[in-house]
Amino acid sequence: MAQDVNSPDFVIGIIGTGTMGRGIAQISVTGGFKVKMFDAQEGAADKAQEFITRMVSRAAEKGQVSEEDAAASNGRLQIVGALSDLSDCGMIVEAIVENLDVKRKVFSELEGYVGDDTILASNTSSLSVTQIAAGCAKPERVAGFHFFNPVPLLKVVEVVDGQMTAPWVADKLDAISRKCGHDPVRTQDTPGFLVNHAGRGLYTEGVRILAESIAEPHQVDDVLREGGAGFRMGPFELMDTTGLDVSGVVMESIYEQFYQEQRFKPQAFIRNRMAAGLFGRKVGKGFYDYEDYKKVAPAAPAAPTDLPEAVWIGPQGHDSTKVLADFLDGKVDIETGDKPSARAICMVAPMGRDATMTAIDLCIEAERTVAVDTLFGLDDRRTLMTTSVTDEGVRDLAHGLLASDGGAVTVIHDSPGFIAQRVIATIVNISSEIAQMGIATPEDINKAVRLGLAYPQGPLEFGDSLGAGKIHAILTAMHDFYGDPRYRPSPWLTRRARLGISLMTPEA
Ligand code: NAI
Repeated sequence: MAQDVNSPDFVIGIIGTGTMGRGIAQISVTGGFKVKMFDAQEGAADKAQEFITRMVSRAAEKGQVSEEDAAASNGRLQIVGALSDLSDCGMIVEAIVENLDVKRKVFSELEGYVGDDTILASNTSSLSVTQIAAGCAKPERVAGFHFFNPVPLLKVVEVVDGQMTAPWVADKLDAISRKCGHDPVRTQDTPGFLVNHAGRGLYTEGVRILAESIAEPHQVDDVLREGGAGFRMGPFELMDTTGLDVSGVVMESIYEQFYQEQRFKPQAFIRNRMAAGLFGRKVGKGFYDYEDYKKVAPAAPAAPTDLPEAVWIGPQGHDSTKVLADFLDGKVDIETGDKPSARAICMVAPMGRDATMTAIDLCIEAERTVAVDTLFGLDDRRTLMTTSVTDEGVRDLAHGLLASDGGAVTVIHDSPGFIAQRVIATIVNISSEIAQMGIATPEDINKAVRLGLAYPQGPLEFGDSLGAGKIHAILTAMHDFYGDPRYRPSPWLTRRARLGISLMTPEA
């Protein structure tokens, strides 16, 4: 019974024409829809119209669209002066202030003007869609339609089913987003929806590593960018870019909304940094210093040049020992016997375990033991980890050896799972739990994270490419060591790892 989105008469209404509203308006007119925009602030909608016209015309100048199409798109955009002017819209999306009462009031007023089949959508990023809908006479027509900033560039949108949302509503939003050139992902109305929920692990595990004095912020970022995982930015660069005033609040809010689920627990230093105004790039100081908005990263110290006479490689299981042995082959004398000779330093390559406990279990001296992370191989930046008592000389010899082919090395303190293992395992685990909870399909989890967060792979793809069994082993070892429930593997991950099947496999 709802209006046909393919009809040239289908009108989209947009309320609030700030950062998000104008982006949604732009992709709607270029997608062929007529658009009516309303903003409560005098002159705001005019500014948005100028902006959109300029963007669409620029695309024509660059030859991305024809002059005729650009003119037609701009011709489909109209400003209106009151909510009542939106009465003929097939779908109205609000992108106004993030306040539950204000959003409920606007939707409730709209219900007095529009037909029964008009969809009321909210671009909220943190409020419950169900709670917004609860203020409406017809909550079944209300859904979330959550875009990402900048809207024209991030071509994914979360279509959020509230508790009462009728299936036809989300189906129609799917169709609208496709016409606008955006990929819809369907998600249930849960804190953070899909993208902000799946994106938690990078932050929570990054800040945990800092809280435990395992590594400095730039070391964590360097490893995640250059160590084979392929992130465009590490967690501290991301927090500085978004601003800790925003990302710190989101961190706390998602933790609280999930009734203090330990997987999402922030660290106490975040609050202090917020109180101190260390918001990042916009204030010139955060986890990094900034000059003219450019990050000033600490200079990397030169690698030592002395090399060890011999390296004893401890047996670890998995394929990690082989990765390490292959890398060292031809660079140094390698020992693989039961015990190291007196002239050897000891290198281990644990998965999910720390260097100290690994040395104790292998009955080797922790003073002459170091650990190397082989999760992503050793072609890219390498992570070297000391035990609690590694001799400085041993550390430097190992560092020199790992850097002897010119490769970059990050030296960190002892940590079960180094940096990359614990962050990637946490990301895979959280997304496995999203799949387990039925918040979204495995395909949509991967798509949302790739497109919305620009990760090199979706989280479940990460898990499959590294091996669900290995991810499970890392988490189990961390869980055993810390006794902290944040590392308990999701049932989704445990079952698929034990069955030896893909993390994409749906429940029967
Ligand atoms: P903004 O501050 O840039 O724009 C909001 C606009 O809404 C302003 O022009 C304001 O005059 C207007 N407005 C406020 N109350 C109104 C009302 N009662 N009736 C009509 N117009 C009203 O805000 P922004 O960043 O565009 O955010 C809008 C919504 O989108 C919020 O719910 C926010 O949480 C959400 N969002 C924001 C993202 C971002 O990166 N900025 C990303 C995804 C969602």
